[in-house]
Amino acid sequence: MTKQYDICLLPGDGIGPEIIAEGVKVLDAVGAKYDTRFDCKESLIGGAAIDAVGDPLPAATLDAAKAADAVLLAAVGGPKWDTTDPAAPRPEAGLLGIRKGLGLYTNLRPVQIFDALAGASTLKPEVIEGVDLMIVRELTGGLYFGKRERFYDEEGAGTDGARGQRAYDTLEYREYEVERIARQAFEAARKRRGKVTSVDKANVLETSRMWREIVHRIGEQEYPDVQIEDLLVDNTAMQLINRPADFDVVVTENMFGDILSDEAAQITGSLGMLASASLGDSTALYEPSHGSAPDIAGKGIANPLAQILSVEMMLRYSFGMNEAANDIRRAVTEVLDEGWRTGDLKDAATPADKVVGCAGMGDLVVSH
Ligand code: NAI
Ligand code: MG
Repeated sequence: MTKQYDICLLPGDGIGPEIIAEGVKVLDAVGAKYDTRFDCKESLIGGAAIDAVGDPLPAATLDAAKAADAVLLAAVGGPKWDTTDPAAPRPEAGLLGIRKGLGLYTNLRPVQIFDALAGASTLKPEVIEGVDLMIVRELTGGLYFGKRERFYDEEGAGTDGARGQRAYDTLEYREYEVERIARQAFEAARKRRGKVTSVDKANVLETSRMWREIVHRIGEQEYPDVQIEDLLVDNTAMQLINRPADFDVVVTENMFGDILSDEAAQITGSLGMLASASLGDSTALYEPSHGSAPDIAGKGIANPLAQILSVEMMLRYSFGMNEAANDIRRAVTEVLDEGWRTGDLKDAATPADKVVGCAGMGDLVVSH
């Protein structure tokens, strides 16, 4: 029997509509091969939604996203909606709103090297050879959501009487928050090479000592087949560029993950290739890591591969269609190995007849 999934499409702004069309092309090809129907319906988000209804995240969009089996987003934002008026609606609010509204507490950012593009990295080829890692960042807790305050301390209370400004942020986690992100990391590791590196600052922070204990308990009780390694966050920052190929899944709290995922993304050197997934308990959202590239919007030259690799993640994480996901990865690898490039990926050695546009790249992936 033909399987059927409802997909909520959020094209957004700039190159969004161009690249999402290529993602849908690939989904359709997968559907035809694996007897699956992906029922894709578009909703408004970001600047496009502001223009149409004055709200970057209309209630109808959140409802459609909640009702769907998965959400595929392209990108939002652009100079058209840049404003100094603090009361004016902003496209980015649509993105933050949908992550929160869908309860997406896990952010997965895979970092993989396509050999054909190894030259784009600033690291030596022998260092990045074989890099294939996944950052699992906790997305709705920790320092970014803790109690914070800034005030002028008249008394210098609790100090030697020094007056002046004071400010604090708090890093707090609850057991269930660590348990659920740990499970997401172990599940991801099971689909990969079976190793989780849990990153913390347990030599200093109490939250980290709790984090480490809980990750080990979940791992030992529920995922005995997955190997656990603990690494302090400062050491991780070094090891990511020293020996990136040794990492499989890296799980960490919100701020550490924010910083380490940007560092890890730079290992590849090519922004147009990086996909991401944000998972919650009931649904998930997949999107490229890059923005709406307003400078090249409407020209048909955007690189759709990060969007297409987001579709790969959707198949893997939302639908368990690992074989189809592997097909996409293999097709992208082959297309690049044959020398095909979009404008952002080409270099001085790329012949003009190997440079393709957005739709051309999507067609190549489909045919492979
Ligand atoms: P950007 O990622 O949109 O662009 C940076 C540079 O990379 C540009 O030169 C662009 O042409 C190029 N680029 C990005 N994606 C590309 C692709 N697929 N193919 C070819 N070239 C590509 O970041 P920027 O310029 O800082 O932001 C532009 C707008 O996007 C802003 O309004 C920003 O707020 C928004 N943005 C949205 C994000 C999202 O929707 N998740 C994330 C980051 C930025
Ligand atoms: Mg960041």
